Amino acid sequence: MKAYEIRSADGIDALALADRAEPKPGPGQVLVRMHANAINYRDLVTVENPAPRGFPFPRIPNSDGAGEVTALGAGASRFEVGDRVMGSFFQRWIAGEITADAMVSALGGALDGMLAEEVVLDEDGLVAVPGHLTYAEAATLPCAALTAWHALVARGGVTAGDVVLLLGTGGVSIFALQFARAHGARVIITSSSDAKLARAKDMGAWGTVNYKTTPDWEKAVLDLTGGRGADHVVEVGGAGTLARSIEAARFGGSIYLIGILSRGELNPTAIMRRSLNLHGIYVGSRAMFEAMNRAIEVAELRPVIDKEFAFTDARAAYHALRGAGHFGKLVITFDG
Ligand SMILES: NC(=O)c1ccc[n+]([C@@H]2O[C@H](COP(=O)([O-])OP(=O)(O)OC[C@H]3O[C@@H](n4cnc5c(N)ncnc54)[C@H](OP(=O)(O)O)[C@@H]3O)[C@@H](O)[C@H]2O)c1
Repeated sequence: MKAYEIRSADGIDALALADRAEPKPGPGQVLVRMHANAINYRDLVTVENPAPRGFPFPRIPNSDGAGEVTALGAGASRFEVGDRVMGSFFQRWIAGEITADAMVSALGGALDGMLAEEVVLDEDGLVAVPGHLTYAEAATLPCAALTAWHALVARGGVTAGDVVLLLGTGGVSIFALQFARAHGARVIITSSSDAKLARAKDMGAWGTVNYKTTPDWEKAVLDLTGGRGADHVVEVGGAGTLARSIEAARFGGSIYLIGILSRGELNPTAIMRRSLNLHGIYVGSRAMFEAMNRAIEVAELRPVIDKEFAFTDARAAYHALRGAGHFGKLVITFDG
């Protein structure tokens, strides 16, 4: 079977397509034939700069994949052959608060990831695919969707009438838009592209701000909310956007610290003055994943896939993510 391997710190074009022995499921494990992967900004950064993660080479990249169960190891009983499954980002974060052990169980990081034709995982590290989704759609859920769900719903308790501020139109933000709308919240979203803002509006965004042509976008958010600010800010920008996100939040509002897309400096005084709640969010547990999937099924939500790439052309998917022309998710398919 074929798998991509990170073998060096030489970036996307050094990803090697290797022949590997067919993996065999051990006790309590499941063999999954992969049908689709989705890529995240984190997967791109891992391929481009693996050193900070400190894993040994070779390492199979990507946290997010969906496929079909093709064999069961001794005693494995959570799934049957033929079931459609997704990997859980943190293989050992089942429920409750995250632990130090769960933190070192991420696919495509501490553990080999999903960019392989066949993958063996512990049965506890798998989740059933929502019935109405294709493999490509399901592959987008484990990281980006769950992070947005964890922030807004599991942690934030978003409710009808709340104002949710989203930064950019990448994977996490577009899932956050869908979840916020499903809960009856009002969404304000920023982007560098008016065309992407128009798409977000079609999906139910209420307010849009181009952060390139309106560099002080936090003032636009305050204007849109009559000076009150947003109840929830899904902060994917990092240090370079956080100071403005703080100004755009309402007094006593919540900011979910998720992303690292930009650099900058922060004076914490404004956090205190606005009595803000800052939440560190790192993907989510299997229990959150399963709760999210129930909601996705009931609301018949469909992930937004910008483009699909063939497995043999996987490197092009990382280049496309780096180009940041996408809206929503980029997917790699193994079929056909
Ligand atoms: N903590 C976690 O568990 C977790 C989970 C998932 C992702 N993340 C992090 O969250 C961030 C987003 O991840 P993703 O997978 O959604 O990325 P992505 O799909 O690659 O999204 C990139 C988009 O973000 C927007 N963006 C970039 N720089 C921006 C800036 N300075 N201000 C506002 N928007 C900006 C752009 O949107 P426009 O093209 O519309 O301008 C860009 O297209 C990354 O830093 C990632 O590492 C963290």
